[in-house]
Formats: sequence, structure tokens, C-alpha cells
Amino acid sequence: TVNTGAFDNLAELSLIAHAENVWFHVDGAFGSLIILDSERRHLVNGIQGADSLAFDFHKWLHCPTDVGCVLIRDKALLQSTFSMRQSYLPTAQQKSTMGDVFWDFGPELSRSFRALKVWFTFKEHGAIKLGRKMADNCKQAQYLVSLLEKYGDIIHIVRPISLNIVNFRFEPDELNKSDTELLDCFNSELLEDIKRSGIALLSSTYIYNRFYIRVAILSHRVNNEDFDIFVETMLNLYRSRTQMFITGC
Ligand SMILES: Cc1ncc(COP(=O)(O)O)c(C=O)c1O
Repeated sequence: TVNTGAFDNLAELSLIAHAENVWFHVDGAFGSLIILDSERRHLVNGIQGADSLAFDFHKWLHCPTDVGCVLIRDKALLQSTFSMRQSYLPTAQQKSTMGDVFWDFGPELSRSFRALKVWFTFKEHGAIKLGRKMADNCKQAQYLVSLLEKYGDIIHIVRPISLNIVNFRFEPDELNKSDTELLDCFNSELLEDIKRSGIALLSSTYIYNRFYIRVAILSHRVNNEDFDIFVETMLNLYRSRTQMFITGC
């Protein structure tokens, strides 16, 4: 799911976990915040059944690194896991007048005020705008696919595209298409060319043991024109790289 932006069927997993009496944890580090996008929140149907959910504000919500969040349904269980008795900390009796103390709910005693940047982000932009920006990224992924599709004879795209991630690899006619290692090497070199050019910062992954260039669209500033420029630049780099592979330099 991390590779492609696909979603597990949380509703079904939740039913199985509860029937089998096992803890149902959702690692929603990246994708769970899609709940802010009204058109796509169905992708996380069933998330309500989680015993615990982890996600990051420093990913798709653009908060400065690091600010993760974990929600645990059973407060008493969390508290009993982490609460400490130390002579230099308030006693249980003293705590009873203080209300909940944060160090009873996690491993940190000293910690920074990470919540402030989340508060500022929501205060400045609001949940609706943040959700809209995520929706834009998903639409841009479809736009990128429409551009890449024009080169269907040399570009293989991994489908379906359910979110903001597009994986593809080049399979140039000039190279032996059955030579998987050669094509992996070609795409890996091309990815470095793209990064060095400064046009975009892409990642990569292996899907079914094959190397793919991975575009994860996260920026709230990017627009369709940027993708036109990106594809044009990448195709120029692709042509030069193909030439280098043919001539062996
Ligand atoms: C599904 C998932 N879980 C966990 C992580 C780890 O993220 P971090 O170390 O930023 O919390 C990532 C990072 O991309 C992720 O995609």
C-alpha cells in the first residue's frame, strides 16, 4: 500500500480482528488523512473500528517534521502502559488533583510543543482547504497518467491509481525488453538524471521485483502546467539516457 497508495479493506479487517479478538492497529501514516477529502474518504471506511491509529501531520498536511499522532481507543490501557512512579514525579495522590498528566500516556517525559504547528496549520488553512489540496494532488496524479499514456509504447504505468502516487518505468524499444536487469538499471539511472536536473524530487520502488520510478504528489503549490514541464524534461533526459545505453557510455 505504501508503494502504490492503495488501501487495505479496513471494514473487513476490523470485522476479522474483532471476531478473533486481536488488536486492530491502522498504520495510516500517510493515507488516513484522506478522510479530509469528501470525495475519497470512503477509502478509509472502517477506520472507526481501529483499536489504535497512527498518522503523521508532517506528511500530507505539510506540518514541519516531526509531528506524528497516535490515537488509542482504550485510555486506561494506554495510561497503565506508560504511567511511571518516580520519587521526583508527582505521586498518584498529587496527580489526582492535577487531572491527566501527559507523561502517563507515552514514553517521553521532556518533549517539544509539537501540537503547536498542527494547531497553526488548521487555524491558518482549515480542514476543508487542506482536504481540497489533497484532492487536487489526486487529480494531478490522474493528469500525469494522461500525459504518460501518450507514450504507452515506451512507458509502463502501474494501475490502478487510487491516490496521489504514480509508478511507471520506461521500456525503450532500443533496449532488450526481456532483459529485466538492464531495464531496472536504465530506469534507476534515468531517475538519478531527473533528480540531478532539479525538475522534481521523485522516489522509486520495486513492484513485482521490477524497479519503478515513483511520483508521490504532495505539494500544495503544484499545478497541471508543472506536470507538462516535468514530462517534457523527463522525455529529453530519457532520450539522452537511451543514447548513452546504446553507445555504451
Ligand atoms: C504507511 C507508513 N507508515 C509509517 C511511515 C513512517 O513515517 P514516519 O517515520 O515519518 O512517522 C511511513 C512513511 O512514509 C508510511 O508511509
